[in-house]
Amino acid sequence: MNETPTAATATERVSLGLPRRVAITGGASGIGLACAKLYLEAGASVGIIGRSQAKLDAAAASLADAAASGGGSIVSVAADVADEAAMAAALSDISTRIGGLDALVVSAGVALETGLLVPEASVESFRKTLEVNVLGAFIATKAALPHLANTEAATITIIGSDSGFVAVPGMVAYNASKGAIVQLTRALAVELYETHGIRVNSVAPSIVDTPMARHDLGDELMDNPNFPLQSAEDIAWSVAYLSSRRARAVNGHTMLSDFGYTGKSSFPA
Ligand SMILES: NC(=O)c1ccc[n+]([C@@H]2O[C@H](COP(=O)([O-])OP(=O)(O)OC[C@H]3O[C@@H](n4cnc5c(N)ncnc54)[C@H](OP(=O)(O)O)[C@@H]3O)[C@@H](O)[C@H]2O)c1
Repeated sequence: MNETPTAATATERVSLGLPRRVAITGGASGIGLACAKLYLEAGASVGIIGRSQAKLDAAAASLADAAASGGGSIVSVAADVADEAAMAAALSDISTRIGGLDALVVSAGVALETGLLVPEASVESFRKTLEVNVLGAFIATKAALPHLANTEAATITIIGSDSGFVAVPGMVAYNASKGAIVQLTRALAVELYETHGIRVNSVAPSIVDTPMARHDLGDELMDNPNFPLQSAEDIAWSVAYLSSRRARAVNGHTMLSDFGYTGKSSFPA
C-alpha cells in the first residue's frame, strides 16, 4: 500500500535515492569525470579508473571540492579495461577503500581512426575498438560483480552512443562497438537481474563536449557547433537517474540522449 509522504520534506520527496559507493571506468575525463562529480556532490564515495595515473591524479585533485562538499571520498586506480586481472584488482581495491560498491559506471571508450574509410581502416584498430568498448565493458562488469552482489539494488550503467543506432562513413568499428553495447546491456540486464538483482542500463548520447569529441572534431567546430551539442553533465544526470532507486523498474534499457534526432522520420513534412 502506498503511504502519503506527509512526513517527507520537499527535498526528500524529490531525492533520487542515488548510490553511495560508485566505481567509474574512464572516470578521469569527459562523461566519466562529470559522473564522478555529480555522485560526489550527492554525497557518494567514488573510485575512478583509467590507464593514465597522471590523468587520474589530476582528475582526483579537480574533484576534491566536490568530495568535500558531499562528505564522501575520491580514490583512483590505474588499470586497462581490457586487462581482466588488472580490473579485478582495481575493483577489489576500490571496493575496499570506499566500503563496498553499489554502482558501476562504464564510461571508458575509444574512437580510433575516425574518418578512415573501409579500404584504409585497419583490422588492428577495429579489434582494439571492440576490445576496449565492448570487451572492456564485459570485463568491468565481471570485475565489479563480486562487490555489487553484496549490496541491495545495485546497478551498472554503460555509456553507449547514438552511433549504435545511426552511422556515418568512416566510423565502422565505433558504430559496430556501440551497436554491440545495446545488446550487451540487454543481455547483462536479463541475466544479472535474475541472478543478482542487479539492473543494467545504458545511455546513448549524440555529440558531447568532451576531450574525445574535441580530438575528433576539432576545437573550432566544437566552439561553434552547427549541430546540437550536449555537455558531459547532461549525460551524468541520465546516468544518475538510471542508477537511482527511482528507476527500479528500468532494466535493459538504452536511453537515447540525442535531442530526438534518431526519432525523426524521412517523411517530408
Ligand atoms: N564525446 C562524445 O561525443 C560521445 C558521444 C557518445 C558516446 N560517447 C562515449 O562516452 C564514453 C566516454 O567518452 P568521453 O567522450 O567522455 O571521452 P574521454 O574524455 O576521452 O573519456 C574516455 C576515458 O576512457 C579512458 N580509457 C580509454 N581507454 C581505456 C582503457 N583501455 N582502459 C581504461 N580506461 C580507458 C580514458 O582515460 P585514459 O586515457 O587515461 O585511459 C578516458 O578518461 C565513451 O564510451 C564514448 O564512446 C562519447
